Amino acid sequence: MNVKVVLLPRDLKPADVADRTVVVFDVLRATTTMTAALAAGVRQIFVFDSLQAAQTAAAKFDGPRILCGEQECLRPTGFDFGNSPRQWNASEHAGRTAFLATTNGTRAIVAAAPFAPANLFVGALVNAQAVARACAATGKDATLLCAGTAGEISLEDALGAGAVLHELLQISDRELIGDAAQIALRLFMQCRGDLEPAMTSGAGGQNLTRAGMPADIQFCAQLNIISTVGTVDASLCVTAL
Ligand code: MLT
Repeated sequence: MNVKVVLLPRDLKPADVADRTVVVFDVLRATTTMTAALAAGVRQIFVFDSLQAAQTAAAKFDGPRILCGEQECLRPTGFDFGNSPRQWNASEHAGRTAFLATTNGTRAIVAAAPFAPANLFVGALVNAQAVARACAATGKDATLLCAGTAGEISLEDALGAGAVLHELLQISDRELIGDAAQIALRLFMQCRGDLEPAMTSGAGGQNLTRAGMPADIQFCAQLNIISTVGTVDASLCVTAL
């Protein structure tokens, strides 16, 4: 079996996705937020590539729903929630349906979905070990897709991919394909003792710091605190595996 890393959605080729297990990372913050939401008992999360599409779908939905979004790190006007992984709690949100659109993370999922992945998972540092186990269990070659920040490679997504690679290599015999996988793995091994400062130094971390949300970086930098893994179906609905 092999595993490769794609550092930006625009570099994704159909062959990187078709019949492979694909894991999307937007560590700051969309995929961490989805993972935390599912861990808090949110029933399902529909993801969108625009705020308007999320709003329209949420308005049509008949049931307890939460409209979540992010624009320049902040909650858009008219939305119930922003994109913070710290906003979920089981007592208020278990069983609810969320509708989420963000600048990079949900768009990366939407970009990968049409190329017929065998499995499409949502990855983060908070659930890296669980994601690696889920990948290994599929028995498929894997592609770790980083969402990036504003069209540029992002340090924290490479760290997330590196963390999953590290875990995957402990439990399955995988060939690393391409230098991006080496870069992600070596970056993670170098930063694993100091994830939060490393993430704060990147563009996504700087954006969140400027927006007054360093606590979200702290949350997203925690390694293996959640065992839930989100899986995305053909209707772009994310549920717990
Ligand atoms: C995104 O999708 O661009 C991010 O999750 C941005 C954020 O931190 O909200």
